[in-house]
Amino acid sequence: MISLLNKMTVEEKLGQLVQIAPFFFVRDLKNELYGPATELGLSLEQIFLTGSVLGIGSPEEMIEVQKRYLDNSRLKIPLLFMADIIHGYQTIFPIPLAMACSFNPELIKTMARISAVEAQTSGIHITFSPMADIVRDPRWGRVMESFGEDPYLNYVLSYYAVKGYQNDNITKEGSLGACAKHFAGYGLVESGREYNTVDISEYALRQYFLAGYQGAIDAGAVMMMTSFNLFEGIPATMNEKLLKEILRKEMEFKGVIISDYNGLKETMIHGISSSEKEAALNCMKAGLDIEMVSGNYILRLKEDFDSGKLPMSLLDEACLRVLNLKKEIGLFDNPFKGVSRDKHNEVVLSKKHLDEALKVAYESIVLLKNDKDVLPIIAKNKVYACGPNLHTNNLNGAWSWHGKSNSNETYHDVLKEKCNIVKNFEESDYIVYFGGEKFNESGEAKSKTNIDFPIEQLEEIIKLKEMSKPIILVINAGRPLVLTAIEKHVDSILYSWFLGTKNALAVVGTLIGDNNPSGKLAISFPRALGQVPVYYNHLPTGRPKNDYDNEYTTGYIDSENDPLYCFGFGLSYSKFEYDELIIKETTVEDDFTLKINVKNDSFMPGFETIQLYIKDTYAHVSRPVKELKSFQKIWFNSNEVKEVSFKITKEMFEYFDNKSKRKIDHGEFIVYVGSSSSNVKMVKINYVGKEK
Ligand code: BGC
Repeated sequence: MISLLNKMTVEEKLGQLVQIAPFFFVRDLKNELYGPATELGLSLEQIFLTGSVLGIGSPEEMIEVQKRYLDNSRLKIPLLFMADIIHGYQTIFPIPLAMACSFNPELIKTMARISAVEAQTSGIHITFSPMADIVRDPRWGRVMESFGEDPYLNYVLSYYAVKGYQNDNITKEGSLGACAKHFAGYGLVESGREYNTVDISEYALRQYFLAGYQGAIDAGAVMMMTSFNLFEGIPATMNEKLLKEILRKEMEFKGVIISDYNGLKETMIHGISSSEKEAALNCMKAGLDIEMVSGNYILRLKEDFDSGKLPMSLLDEACLRVLNLKKEIGLFDNPFKGVSRDKHNEVVLSKKHLDEALKVAYESIVLLKNDKDVLPIIAKNKVYACGPNLHTNNLNGAWSWHGKSNSNETYHDVLKEKCNIVKNFEESDYIVYFGGEKFNESGEAKSKTNIDFPIEQLEEIIKLKEMSKPIILVINAGRPLVLTAIEKHVDSILYSWFLGTKNALAVVGTLIGDNNPSGKLAISFPRALGQVPVYYNHLPTGRPKNDYDNEYTTGYIDSENDPLYCFGFGLSYSKFEYDELIIKETTVEDDFTLKINVKNDSFMPGFETIQLYIKDTYAHVSRPVKELKSFQKIWFNSNEVKEVSFKITKEMFEYFDNKSKRKIDHGEFIVYVGSSSSNVKMVKINYVGKEK
């Protein structure tokens, strides 16, 4: 690539660092520039110097854009095509927050693999996924796009997502390069309001918020997107400490750094860069390689590089990173790599992909309540189905641009096939109410101040209750809703999020027992909005709630502290019993093993996710009351008992102190194992091994 770099002019190098939309290339070139092109300020010549494209609709469009570009470019460096393939291309999988509830990393990998195979047939090379931002605030619309509130779960799932997209080698056909996002801390926008300020201490950044991105990096993600927010008062997109010291040095990220949409220019609105030129300079110096959908690098920095005011090495480094990525993807050998209408028709929405989507959907559903084992519905019984979501096929959820809702069935379609449904509720044995949010109430720029289960649905259900029939509530939502008011009026709650193309079949299959629900919440469900943020791995306070003689303890006068449904919670049609923990020695020096017997005390076979948490009782800085460190999702036959063993490694005791140093201390650790973050067995360990 060096010899190619040596042939390039400054403008050509800068062009590689600019990403624009595909329509710029396929306009009638003889016409004057107009509309968005004028706003961008690029000349026709400059458009044909740019390096990558955001979003593409079809194989034909990609071929046309790439051809036009190559015909008009001196050095014929192929364009790189990037898009948001977040939870499927056209075979849509559950929203990421739902998939996280599967606690099944292999399923995330399957989703990513299938997304890559389908998307590549349209000539897409890079996906802007996974979103590794940890989220604690369900008001934020993008909570649906996250893997929830836990660092370890985020690490593991981001890792597997990247492995699935990249397939170990992005040169292979059918692999996508993964761009993890949004570095760093976007999930922490104040008040859950989209694009709002973020204020994180370095200690908290390392303690909680870097884990997901690190998972993506460790899996080999080739790209990282910066976030819209500030870090220590400076926009992430131009934050040298964040990009150079933390991302590159400390986290050892070697790939390309791209801004978010117009992020470079927004450093002006943040009140840091006073002009477009300064914005470009700030970002270039901070180590931002590609700017998304703005042309400031090529428009504003040419002179400074030409005159030597800026060192050429700065530009060369960034440009080389982009060229090397293009080479690794194989674009110099074949600029049309993977794009094919025939292959597209063969793989997109294929039976194999749809079957996998159903499996993932099945494992993403969370059963929150099931009084008197109302579910599953017995085949001969009659069902009265109602609610605002009964007839909708808009079940893909946000961030599914290429998915088509007309590929989806409605609940009503599937119920007709699989259940004995009746028109009058008087005749029915069960009422099944399909409610919750609509697909467009979550996603980017969809923050809410009210996350209560909708009041009009609540009132409707209270009326239905007069019929004295069991009420089963199926909730579609892109976020945790506050269910405190509705919860007591229904017998059973299936939280189905948005499950994608196979949503309706997955839910009905679960209602009738073809699937035994196994999802566990990847995020806490608040009792009331006033509790937000509420998350399980918080720090202890000096006045914990367990001293009942003293009113001056942490808490509310109108609510419990704990959430309505905690992290890791989820019921099953099976009943799992946990014995006490088995350990040889409680004084440990090194890695050790912990065992527990778990029994499926029912005739229903099913999965259980057994969760292991650790608390470091005393350390150099205050440590969370509990942290997930391991989990195993295990299949149990009816009445089966299994001995489950966990290896506890020293690394599980490690933490960052307030000087950002990794530490392991002697002393007491509590290990918890259980079916959720609050339902656990525990054992105390005295660690006497190596300190750090
Ligand atoms: C979002 C990114 C996304 C980009 C490109 C932005 O608005 O924040 O997550 O990848 O648009 O579509």
